Amino acid sequence: QTKTTLMSGMRPTGELHLGNYLGALENWVQLQNEYYCYFSIVDWHALTTAYKETDKLEERIFDMACDWLAAGLDPDKCAIFRQSHIKEIAELHLLFSMVIPLSWLERVPTYKDQLQQLKEKEINTYGFLGYPLLQAADILICQAEVIPVGEDQVPHIELTREVGRRFNHLYNTEVFNDPIAKLTENKVLPGLDNRKMSKSYNNYIRLTASPDEVIQKVRSMVTDPNRVRKNDPGNPDVCSAYAYHKIFNASNAVETEQSCKQGSIGCMDCKKALAIQLTELIQPIYEKKQELKNNPDYVYDVLADGAEKTRIVANETMEKVRKIMGI
Ligand code: ADP
Ligand code: NA
Repeated sequence: QTKTTLMSGMRPTGELHLGNYLGALENWVQLQNEYYCYFSIVDWHALTTAYKETDKLEERIFDMACDWLAAGLDPDKCAIFRQSHIKEIAELHLLFSMVIPLSWLERVPTYKDQLQQLKEKEINTYGFLGYPLLQAADILICQAEVIPVGEDQVPHIELTREVGRRFNHLYNTEVFNDPIAKLTENKVLPGLDNRKMSKSYNNYIRLTASPDEVIQKVRSMVTDPNRVRKNDPGNPDVCSAYAYHKIFNASNAVETEQSCKQGSIGCMDCKKALAIQLTELIQPIYEKKQELKNNPDYVYDVLADGAEKTRIVANETMEKVRKIMGI
């Protein structure tokens, strides 16, 4: 295998929405052609905040695997696996925890930002503080060279690099490589209400919404509140349907903008056109997911295969690490 290796993951905290697709998954589907990719359903990471929702975890993991495959991840091109299948990751995390100063974790911006919130929600746990260290174990155990990330994740990758370097330095070894962060173009999808699309705002369209669901969601999008009658000139800049046109119906966006400003197209018609575009994108993913859900054995096989591929590199790394640490 001569391709550069790449690693990324997602927490199984619920069904994927269009924002997750645009901001991450669509990109992964491209990357799998260029890199050898490890894609991890990071269930231990889910427990760092959602440790009370364990009854839903199994279903969410299955669902996430279906969403990934339906969106076009190809198990022949990448290793798709469930983090907790690779127990060596937990072992590496434990060993890292012996050598990494607490202050390194306490100064991670996401931790500092969320501290008050964490206390209120009773999730200021040992595991939450250690989240970036677990992530470092995810990445370094695979000997991944490239990590696709958004701007906000850069400090985490920086920590991963520092962890690897400290380990190498302490034990005078070169077991860990220096992974680099590959910044993904910042495509943030607004939700139906113009805020960022997010599970927590309940303003999302599921990646595998049925055609009826797409129509119903698009209908509920917030448009220019000053546009009362059909022929009133509209302001596309305050309309979430228009924001979607720019992303998902780009070749007609200029025309849509002008028609809206002139009042020659009403909001209903504008939304109908958008629903058609979105359905064209979503319907094949929706159909593929129905197929996968009816074939759980296949999906679980994919996860087992992915774990087997990952275990090879994980074992290779851990054999060296154990020897180095005298374990
Ligand atoms: P996490 O697993 O960190 O909790 P989320 O479940 O919020 O992250 O999202 C998973 C992925 O989808 C991340 O890469 C995130 O950047 C991306 N994402 C989430 N919401 C949006 C959005 N509205 N627009 C673009 N990308 C998004
Ligand atoms: Na998030």
